[in-house]
Amino acid sequence: MKRRQFSLALAATGLAAPALAQAYPTKPISIIVPFAAGGPTDVMARIMGERMGRELAQQFIIDNTAGAAGTIAVGKLVRAAPDGYTIGIGHLGTNVVNGAIYRQLTFNVVDDLAPIARLPSNPMLVVTSNQVPANTLAELIAYLKANADKVSGGTAGVGSGSHIGALLFNKVTGTKYQLVPYRGTGPAIQDLIANQIQIMVDQSSNALPHVRAGKVRAYAVTAPRRSPAAPDIPTVAEAGAPGAEVAIWHGLWAPKGTPAAIVDRLNRAAVAALGDPEVRRKLEDLGQELPTPAEMAPAAFGAFQRAQFAQWKPIIDEANVKVE
Ligand code: MLT
Repeated sequence: MKRRQFSLALAATGLAAPALAQAYPTKPISIIVPFAAGGPTDVMARIMGERMGRELAQQFIIDNTAGAAGTIAVGKLVRAAPDGYTIGIGHLGTNVVNGAIYRQLTFNVVDDLAPIARLPSNPMLVVTSNQVPANTLAELIAYLKANADKVSGGTAGVGSGSHIGALLFNKVTGTKYQLVPYRGTGPAIQDLIANQIQIMVDQSSNALPHVRAGKVRAYAVTAPRRSPAAPDIPTVAEAGAPGAEVAIWHGLWAPKGTPAAIVDRLNRAAVAALGDPEVRRKLEDLGQELPTPAEMAPAAFGAFQRAQFAQWKPIIDEANVKVE
């Protein structure tokens, strides 16, 4: 149902927003995930959806709408009925950086959505296939410089977290290699393990399990401090690449026009989910940093997203990133 039709239908029922929210939810909630299954955004959506579903006594259905670094999914969310039954998960790339890169978008990634809650943040790991002959970040940088034409790196598309991480890493280290776009870093890391690609700057929640299993090699974490989940991995500054720090924060949004009482109900479910020690343990074990309930509040999260857009827009403009 289109937004206008929904508003008319709501007016026809005579139900005021608080009554609607009291009844809400009466059926499963669909959560649009902008990348392929198995990757970091999908994993977070499934962890949150399972726990929020218990909180709201309704199932969350995962809708992986991958493509164009998340812009297809965000457009789908913008056009969804603002009734609380379709929400979307996204991150710094999909809901900030893409707004600066994809100038032909027919929607505004900040203004055309209603923020529900800020979600955890993932530092990134610089990882390579085990075939790359480098043991330290300095050796890796030297290898990349000597073999620029032979090395391919995986990303989830122009503007994705892994693309932002690679751009920053290349800028700071003076390296350059071919970037191969995937529908998400879930499939990309499988190709890294198989040495189809050689390097990724990937969110810790995706890369760390494979680092622990010895399937890929990690050189540095793009955070100012070492992660308690991987204390042996040096920071980029410690490893010789200060300035490559970036964290991919996530969030939940609803279509603009979703009743505030429903947004608030969803926010409370998200806060309860991240307050659950079992959920916290799972996310922290993947290297994620959790926001406080105050940071998760819809207004605070909306202000944070806006500030992030103001911070990243000039960086993207200066980098002159082109969509191929
Ligand atoms: C994913 O879920 O595949 C990632 O968030 C992609 C990315 O932004 O690098």
